[in-house]
Amino acid sequence: MTKPLGELHLHLEGSISPETLGAIDPSVSVADVEAMYRFESFAGFLEAYKWVVRKMASPRHYAMAARALKKRLASDGVEYAELNVSVGVMLWREQNARANLAAIQSALPQCPLIFDAVRQHGGDPAIAVAELALEFDAGFGIGGDEASRPLAEFADAIRLAGGAFFPHAGETSNAASVRDALEYGARRIGHGIRAIEDHGLCRELRERNIPLEISISSNVATGAVESLAAHPVHRLFDLGVPVVLNTDDPAMFQTSLPREFEIAAGLGFSADELEILRQNAFRYARAR
Ligand code: ADE
Ligand code: ZN
Repeated sequence: MTKPLGELHLHLEGSISPETLGAIDPSVSVADVEAMYRFESFAGFLEAYKWVVRKMASPRHYAMAARALKKRLASDGVEYAELNVSVGVMLWREQNARANLAAIQSALPQCPLIFDAVRQHGGDPAIAVAELALEFDAGFGIGGDEASRPLAEFADAIRLAGGAFFPHAGETSNAASVRDALEYGARRIGHGIRAIEDHGLCRELRERNIPLEISISSNVATGAVESLAAHPVHRLFDLGVPVVLNTDDPAMFQTSLPREFEIAAGLGFSADELEILRQNAFRYARAR
């Protein structure tokens, strides 16, 4: 029997298959969505992500996405998943975020949620995201373009969220961005691959037991790494940095969690090392 998998960095809006998005918006075809899910840069990815999120117009749409994800998780053997939701975008679009979130929770009651603010929007709109995170007992995250705004702008929102802070950092910018996230009390780091540029920082991640939520296919597809072979995941692991494997936006990167484990095996992780990665998802889970 294969052992259960878990993941800690998975965006609901990035999990929507072309078929499900076609059901959400019948004016788009599967081929249209597949074309949108082909991009060659991080900027191209963000455009595609925004395009998907703009199609999410009602609690019914979020429920459809969440129900489809629930099926995918079950068929992939993913027993535990924490789910990022782009609440910053819901508020920006003046949607009824509470109704959307209730729809997600009722479809996926077992998934702890992380509410993401949008880095490009700045710190003020993030405060309402952190307040909603408190209300729903969710984590508070920050996604989007990490190079666009310093974390200092988000200090009030981060303070509001208490210890439950799960930002994207060190994905496309640099090791200093990971350091900032640590200084602001990040419990885990979304991506964090640029930490490899600073071995002192890697030591700190190890000593403070702060894991990196690594998504290999995501990093290749967005160009955050030059190639699969250049991905630093094994070097980070060898430096003792806690690592968890994730899919990030599985529909947009045409991946799954079992596939990420296969890819890690292809990058040289032994069976024992893969077992450590598997266990890390449960070890660094928010809810356990
Ligand atoms: N939102 C969804 N996926 C993301 C990623 N990989 N980086 C930043 N923001 C995101
Ligand atoms: Zn992400």
